[in-house]
Amino acid sequence: MISIRNLEAPLGAEIAGVDVSKPLPRSDIAAIENAWRDRLVVVFHGQSLDDPQLIAFSRNFGELDPPGPNPFGQQFLKDHPELNVISNVVEDGKPIGNLGDGEAVWHADMTYVDVPPKAAMLHALEVPPPEAGGNTYFANMFAAYAALPADLKQAAEGKIAIHDASRNSAGMLRKGYKEVTDVRETVGARHPLVRTDPKTGRKALFLGRRPNAYVLGLSVADSDALLDALWAHATQPRFAMCHEWKVGDLLMWNNLSVLHRRDPFDPKTRRVMHRSQIKGSERIT
Ligand code: SIN
Repeated sequence: MISIRNLEAPLGAEIAGVDVSKPLPRSDIAAIENAWRDRLVVVFHGQSLDDPQLIAFSRNFGELDPPGPNPFGQQFLKDHPELNVISNVVEDGKPIGNLGDGEAVWHADMTYVDVPPKAAMLHALEVPPPEAGGNTYFANMFAAYAALPADLKQAAEGKIAIHDASRNSAGMLRKGYKEVTDVRETVGARHPLVRTDPKTGRKALFLGRRPNAYVLGLSVADSDALLDALWAHATQPRFAMCHEWKVGDLLMWNNLSVLHRRDPFDPKTRRVMHRSQIKGSERIT
């Protein structure tokens, strides 16, 4: 029977008692969706999904959103354009996935488009040993907003920022994009710094990614100062959880309400993850 245990962190829940490679009863899907909505990140252990099973499980929560452009201009899974591969492995001189072995800086996925994905799933197929790095962190943006000092809350209110599309979270320039030389001309969607959840009315910080971001209407210096202060606040450990990966883990996160980052890891080790994301329908307000 499905069971859900909240992690001792300001977000995150572990779900046991389900094999997500199989079709699930409506009640289990509703329980998973509720935990995802409430705890923002749900963690399953010991799962073994091939690509069609990952797609089928993901579709319980909506239509799949194909991956954004990557630096290699390449589709990683020939038969499954709707999936992405996150990996440092190079085969026959070609990367089999995105993001390499370096740090992936704090970000939310694809907020450089007008309607970003609402959820993402990452399934661990191969992971480095624990001492080799590669942990992933998630931070709760409702909690970060609620704890904002009054002056920062006021400074963020009503402001719109540009979310850079040119670089991925590993800092690599995506194919087809130019280097940003003036953040006021950054290419990417514009979203408010504060998001209001349309279901609950709760407010969350909505920061996307820091590099090349710019707050409309401010001087570059004032925009940088505001963004630096918001990012320093939002990424404090008190709002975050850490996930240490094991093979068979499957994580699903609430992309509009969390930021995530990944530690670098030993390049001599292999890390292979398959990833899906679920289309959003929300224009951030
Ligand atoms: C990602 O940012 O989507 C990848 C996170 C990870 O590699 O753990």
